[in-house]
Formats: sequence, structure tokens, C-alpha cells
Amino acid sequence: MIWLIGCKGMLGSEVARQLDEKKYNWVGTDKDVDITDADALMNFVKSVETSTYLDTSSNDKHIKWIINCSAYTNVDKAEEDVELANKLNNSGVLKIARTARSIGAKLIHISTDYVFNGQGKEPYTEEMEKEPLGVYGKTKSAGEDAIQKEMTQYYILRTAWLYGFDGKNFVYTMTKLMNSHDQIKVVNDQKGTPTCALDLAAVILKIIEKADKATEAFGKHSAPAFGIYHFTNGGQTNWHEFATEIYRLGRKYGRITQECDVKPCTTEEYGAKVQRPAYSVLSKDKICRELKIKLPDWKVSLEKFIKGERFIEK
Ligand SMILES: NC(=O)c1ccc[n+]([C@@H]2O[C@H](COP(=O)([O-])OP(=O)(O)OC[C@H]3O[C@@H](n4cnc5c(N)ncnc54)[C@H](OP(=O)(O)O)[C@@H]3O)[C@@H](O)[C@H]2O)c1
Repeated sequence: MIWLIGCKGMLGSEVARQLDEKKYNWVGTDKDVDITDADALMNFVKSVETSTYLDTSSNDKHIKWIINCSAYTNVDKAEEDVELANKLNNSGVLKIARTARSIGAKLIHISTDYVFNGQGKEPYTEEMEKEPLGVYGKTKSAGEDAIQKEMTQYYILRTAWLYGFDGKNFVYTMTKLMNSHDQIKVVNDQKGTPTCALDLAAVILKIIEKADKATEAFGKHSAPAFGIYHFTNGGQTNWHEFATEIYRLGRKYGRITQECDVKPCTTEEYGAKVQRPAYSVLSKDKICRELKIKLPDWKVSLEKFIKGERFIEK
């Protein structure tokens, strides 16, 4: 049995869909089981294990995996909302880790490129020193530390520039702006790699599949080693180039119905509340090696997304 926490968020919704597609035995919770409340977490476990929660004929009621897609994700708002950001991204994560450890479940947790200072020049590897700048990054980093102190059976997946069908994100925001403005300005001095939630969800399922297969095969297959991994799409770009590609594809597939001039500007000209990483490209060598996967290129995944039937401009 898999417990998906944050199943109504942007990534969580995609993971839920793929768990259904692959016919996994899973349960999902969101704000209905508050991650900041340790008793609520344990009570949920008990209700699943005694089946008062589930209408299932399955005998597999023991939670072996917890996937945590819940978080406080509003980077700007976090600067004023420090207490709640810390509760969700740090102490709530610790409570999830404690719950996981106490029932012997493996944990898959999602983290972010914001744990780094963004001043690098080469792709960040998993071992590189962290130096988060704002409240969001600091609380996410503390959440990683909490898991590492509490348990050993975890996979922390750091990702970046995430977009998916079921949530507010850069692709939807740009599409909306391009449909209502003749001209927009987008920063061109912050580098990174977009990540389609479909690809990240597929990687989460791949970890579970490989690890379960290893458990069942008694040594014939090896499970991915526990620890921290980076995952984004392949390649790198900047926000202006990303927006320009959204415009090109949006026009191609009829998502953008008018002309819009996508102009570059600097971060300074744009003026944002929170310091954002100038460079946040993550090295994905470790996850590619461990899972034997090839990274889907960001432009290829973006095209599939914009073309996708589930694309609804939000
Ligand atoms: N989005 C990005 O660009 C990005 C980049 C890098 C890493 N990440 C990481 O990727 C993960 C998924 O991000 P996302 O964008 O899919 O997040 P999201 O859409 O904001 O989803 C988070 C979910 O958690 C729920 N939640 C809030 N408080 C809760 C509580 N107390 N108990 C249980 N659930 C609660 C939220 O509900 P409400 O919406 O009702 O509050 C929401 O459904 C996060 O760990 C995030 O830090 C995201």
C-alpha cells in the first residue's frame, strides 16, 4: 500500500493519476490529514490498517511507501508567512518522517533547487553544500535535514521549475499573459531547467517499482540506493527562452490566439521581492545511473504538455 500525501497539489495530482493508471494499491490525503499534526498522521495510518478508511477488498493494508508531495510552495509569500512555511516544509516533514519510520515505510519526499545559493556555474550535484537564500529554501532545506536525522529509508528528490496540468505554474501564467497582452517582459539572466510533472511523477513510480522488484527478487535486482537525487528535464535554458518556446508552441497548438512580443529583461529591471537563484541547473547523472533512465529534454516535454488534452489555461 502506498500513501500519497498532498494528492491534490500540482505534482500530487499527477502522481495520483499515474498510480491509478498503473493500478497501484494506494490512498491519498491532502489537507484532510494535516501533516503538522502527528496524531492525525498516526490516526490515518491506523484507519487504513484497520480498513475503516478504505473501501477495498485488497489485503494489502500495510503502508509500505509514503510519497510526500505536500508543501508550502509560495516562494514570495513565504517571506512573510515564515511560521506556516516552516511548519509545512520543516516540522511537518519531520512528523511524516517519524510516522514513516515508526511503521517501517519508505519515504519519497520532494525538495527543491532553492536549497542552493544559485551562484554556481556548473550543474549542482547532490553532494554540494547547501546555502538557501530565502524562507522557502531555508525551510525546505531544514525539512531535508529532518528526514536525514530521523530515518535511513528515504529518497529525497530535488526538482526545479515544475509545471503540471493541475496547478498554477509558469506555463499557464505565460499563456494567460500572452493571450491578453501585446508585449511581455521575461527575465533572461536566471538559468535552470523546466520540469514537467508527468516526468517527475514517472520517476517517483519508477523508484517504487525498482525497489519493490528488488525486495521481491531476493538479490536478483538491486534497489535504488537511499539518499538524495536531483531530477529535472534535460538541457538548460533561461526564463525568457522558456517563455519564447511556450509562445511558439502555444501558437502552434492554438493555445495562444494573438500575437505577443516576448521581450527579455534583467532580474534587476524586473524587480522581484525574493532573491531567486541566478543559476539553478541540477546535475542528474546520479538518478540516470541509478534508475537507468534517459532524461526527457525540456522542449520535448513542453511540447507534449502544451499539445496535451488536459491543458487548461489557469
Ligand atoms: N512548483 C515548483 O515550481 C517546484 C519547484 C521545485 C520543487 N517543488 C516541490 O515540489 C513539491 C510539489 O510541489 P507542487 O507545486 O505540486 O505543490 P502544491 O501544488 O502547492 O501542492 C501542495 C499540496 O499540499 C497541500 N497542503 C497544504 N498544507 C497542507 C497540510 N497542512 N497538510 C497536508 N497537505 C497540505 C496543499 O493544499 P492547498 O493548495 O490547499 O494549500 C496542496 O494540495 C513540493 O515539495 C515543492 O516544494 C516545486
